[in-house]
Amino acid sequence: MHLDMARFIVTAAWPYVNYIPHLGTVIHLISADVYTRYLKLRGHEVVYVTGSDEHGTPIELEARRKGVEPRVLTDAVHKRDLELFSEFGIEFSNYSRTESPTHKEFVKAFMSELYDKGYIFEQDEVLPYCEFDKIFLPDRFVEGKCPYCGYERARGDQCDECGRLLHPTELINPRCTLCGTKPVYKVTRHWFIDLGRVKDKLLAWLKSNGELQDNVREYSLNWVTQGLKPRSITRDTPWGIEAPFPGAQEKTIYVWFDALLGYISATIEYFEMIGARDEWVKWWMGGDSKTLYFIGKDNIPFHSIILPALLLASEKPYNLPWRISATEYLLYEGKHFSKSRRIGIWIDEALEIVPGEYWRWVIVRLRPEIRDQNFTWSEFYRIINTELNDDIGNYVNRTLTLVLRIGGMLTKPLELSKRDEDTLREAKSLAFKAIDAYDNIRLKQASEYILEIARLGNKYLNEREPWSLIKANLEEASKALWTATLIVKILAHLIAPIMPKAAQKLWSMLGLEGDVNKIVWDEELYKETNQFNIRRVEPLFTKLPPDFLDKVESIIEEARRKAALKRPHIIRE
Ligand code: MF3
Ligand code: ZN
Repeated sequence: MHLDMARFIVTAAWPYVNYIPHLGTVIHLISADVYTRYLKLRGHEVVYVTGSDEHGTPIELEARRKGVEPRVLTDAVHKRDLELFSEFGIEFSNYSRTESPTHKEFVKAFMSELYDKGYIFEQDEVLPYCEFDKIFLPDRFVEGKCPYCGYERARGDQCDECGRLLHPTELINPRCTLCGTKPVYKVTRHWFIDLGRVKDKLLAWLKSNGELQDNVREYSLNWVTQGLKPRSITRDTPWGIEAPFPGAQEKTIYVWFDALLGYISATIEYFEMIGARDEWVKWWMGGDSKTLYFIGKDNIPFHSIILPALLLASEKPYNLPWRISATEYLLYEGKHFSKSRRIGIWIDEALEIVPGEYWRWVIVRLRPEIRDQNFTWSEFYRIINTELNDDIGNYVNRTLTLVLRIGGMLTKPLELSKRDEDTLREAKSLAFKAIDAYDNIRLKQASEYILEIARLGNKYLNEREPWSLIKANLEEASKALWTATLIVKILAHLIAPIMPKAAQKLWSMLGLEGDVNKIVWDEELYKETNQFNIRRVEPLFTKLPPDFLDKVESIIEEARRKAALKRPHIIRE
């Protein structure tokens, strides 16, 4: 609750469109959506942009495997992703794609300016080359053993195990990902960015930005102090954005240097769409604007070093990242998600099991904010049945059903008993803690406080027993129910960023006007209400069947089957 008023650009890592995202990928998109909703509810102006990451070897590899042009693959997956994200209730200002003309133009212009300012130079480079496939093997086209941690399936640009950025020649026992043969080494000409030139400014920013998470700052400081070597920003492949440098006609821009700039181009595109193109400048360069990135830990160096370095090299007053919310990994039943080994659950399959809003809650509850977090179906079952249904749903249901029993109308009592006042004070203090947690992007912690409020409410009902009071002392009963209903209303506000539909359902059950997702939170969440008018009570959530865990294997199989039917043809197994 202490954020200064500002404009916020909220972003999430752009998903690759080689395949449908799995549950771990959507954490960033959902977290960004929750935070966007939260900021709006606190009265801030927010633009939420991200999009499909369409270029690079992840896409090329999959397209080659399927025997289609990359664009055929990315068109199909982009379209399906958009439908799925909307089923999760994610509302973007703009969900763009790196093939968008605005983006391509922006990247070319940006890179040309860096070239003109002398940040880019050309140099010969030795790279692995596959004599069988007749291509150079950058990035994911080559795999081998990581020279730092020994992981066997490190890729040419990064090791997934230790997170280090690599050069393809560093791999031990390299092999071509396409055909498995051992590459030879050949010289090719590439264009490099001289990151060292912005080193001092980068260091100053890393040290002075108090909003950076410790792990992000330490990791990056370490890297920058060890020296910022020039990095190649071109590739020998036709799929990508043409490199705009003299003599580089055959080359394209390396996917990361393309996609990262998408944060800016997608903002430009958004303002173009609403007919106010020039507005984007004050969002990216204004002193009262902030940019915020939701990513996984493997993306840290790109957002805390490469992106700020690009922005600094432009020599324009772009805002450097305000916060980078980097999560640890989500594991699936103790293992890493893996498409090739078929470990995990993909978002279209997930949506065949429970609706998107349930997943939003589950994902916030399992958000790996501090350490890797294990997704298990038994935890999933507990979260939905115990937390959503018993703690929250049942509290709401008990309270509102009792109010209905005394006619449904509740007016603010002249005074409450001490017990009621104490309970409300406690609920309010938990609400403020939830708000603080939201502010600090501890979304999981915010959800913990929300649950505490519901549990407090349940405990209050058990002790105050309004059902007995209804017979004995109607005045006392209405005080108790007024108190309990105010707590329901607090819950409606607080769950709105995570479960906007349930929040609104609750809001109308309370007989309150308007859309709770648009009502800016008051300092004292419930003060303004004088009356509730409850006419009908419906369950807020539905439980999973008691034999869910026994049947989970077949439930997943059925979900996979249904999801596969809706997948674009080219990515069906
Ligand atoms: N597609 C990348 C990944 O999945 C993330 C790109 S984030 C961006 O790891 F900023 F570069 F777009
Ligand atoms: Zn090969």
